[in-house]
Amino acid sequence: MTHARRIRSYAGRRGRGSALTTRRLETLLGAHALPDGPLDRVAVFGRVAPLVLEIGSGHGDAAVAYAVAHPGHDVLAAEVHTTGVARMLATADEAGVSNLRVVVDDGVPLLEDRVPPGTLDALHVFFPDPWPKARHAKRRLVGPGFLDVAHERLATGGVLLIATDDETYAAQALAELGVHGGFDVSTGERPAWRPVAGFEVRARDAGRVVTEVRAARRDRADAAPGRRTR
Ligand SMILES: C[S@@+](CC[C@H](N)C(=O)[O-])C[C@H]1O[C@@H](n2cnc3c(N)ncnc32)[C@H](O)[C@@H]1O
Repeated sequence: MTHARRIRSYAGRRGRGSALTTRRLETLLGAHALPDGPLDRVAVFGRVAPLVLEIGSGHGDAAVAYAVAHPGHDVLAAEVHTTGVARMLATADEAGVSNLRVVVDDGVPLLEDRVPPGTLDALHVFFPDPWPKARHAKRRLVGPGFLDVAHERLATGGVLLIATDDETYAAQALAELGVHGGFDVSTGERPAWRPVAGFEVRARDAGRVVTEVRAARRDRADAAPGRRTR
């Protein structure tokens, strides 16, 4: 399926980063880079295990923590900014994780074009760029097109986890999920494995409330009457 739009949900340029970033990428990316092309889980991980994709993994604290806490699962982390990826690689290297692969690119085409339908046990979106101005709202990662693709790529019962400290983003995501109708949605459940790091620290320091959204994919046949499953 082709996403209805290829609007960038991220800000800024990718840049080349510092000498430290370059060195980390040169020495560590090779072992953790996801090869190009359609996802071949056996070729990449040497097994078919529960699979999680995080889009916008930043410095990688959540992705690495998940990989460490779930050695029987495999993790893909997509992040466009090389400095964040380099830090994630360094943390992963220190933790000695073997079940994490990294894509230094937009995670949306990865989800759309390379992850087969019904594959993901979880899709993680933690503190996505908020795009608070009304004229930028279309750049928010979580929107109708994204939910369509997420629903299709998740396995039945697979979960989309979203955390945001932007009230309007949370409200929009919950409204879109309600309209979609293909998910069982709940809020308030903070994953115990996720460290308080990255943008969550900033949110807490600023006294902002974090909304945790959990949306479990259900099959179309299970969709609640009167709701629309696209
Ligand atoms: C506000 S930061 C949050 C980072 C991290 N999840 C955290 O909680 O600290 C959002 C990150 O998402 C990345 N991002 C946004 N859209 C993306 C996309 N489509 N593919 C990959 N990365 C994306 C941005 O580059 C940025 O690093």
